[in-house]
Amino acid sequence: MSHYWSQRFAREGMIWGSEPSPSAGWAKRIFLEAGAASVLVPGAGYGRNTKGFAPELSVFGIELSEPALELAREWDPGTTFIAGSALEPQLEHLVDAVYCYDVLHLFLAEDRRRLIGASLAQVRSGGLLYFTSFSDEDPHNGCGVQLEPGTYEYKPDKYAHFFSKADLEEHFAGTEILETGSFTEALQSPEGGTHEYILRSILARKK
Ligand SMILES: C[S@@+](CC[C@H](N)C(=O)[O-])C[C@H]1O[C@@H](n2cnc3c(N)ncnc32)[C@H](O)[C@@H]1O
Repeated sequence: MSHYWSQRFAREGMIWGSEPSPSAGWAKRIFLEAGAASVLVPGAGYGRNTKGFAPELSVFGIELSEPALELAREWDPGTTFIAGSALEPQLEHLVDAVYCYDVLHLFLAEDRRRLIGASLAQVRSGGLLYFTSFSDEDPHNGCGVQLEPGTYEYKPDKYAHFFSKADLEEHFAGTEILETGSFTEALQSPEGGTHEYILRSILARKK
């Protein structure tokens, strides 16, 4: 997977433009209202979402792809980027919140558990987690070969897990689930146009 993303970042640069997802703004407001001072962003890419959390929050990004990290350190010098896998804890201290945009659906079941487990291990008790991922209402759901229940190779060599509300909630069992939602995100295409994805979000509190 890291090879796929590294090739894309090396070739296409800031693939989805420089603007953060609107969900990063929503999450930031919720985090600040809860008194958070720090946020971890697993799978931070080239930093389009990390940048918006500053200056109010101290921001830590974990990213596996070296070309993405190079772009991120230039675009968002205020964030502390850590090269490594978000499937394992990387921080030596706890943060108040985790924001994870469109990373969870990239993994098969065992690694989805690891991503959530590692995120929980790095947030303090009472801290918040806001995740987004592909929805089962997205038109790509059900396309191509099914690799696991709800997970499809919907494009050649590219698979994703498509979450129902119940499935997403089940992944976060053991946390206090505060809210789930569904929204359509329009992302800039490298070719110039935009394409839309239907996403689910979850806001949870570590017990
Ligand atoms: C769909 S992109 C989203 C990037 C970023 N969240 C954004 O919205 O701009 C998925 C990102 O997860 C990163 N990634 C994939 N597997 C990872 C892992 N095990 N640990 C850390 N990052 C990973 C990829 O390199 C890529 O940057």
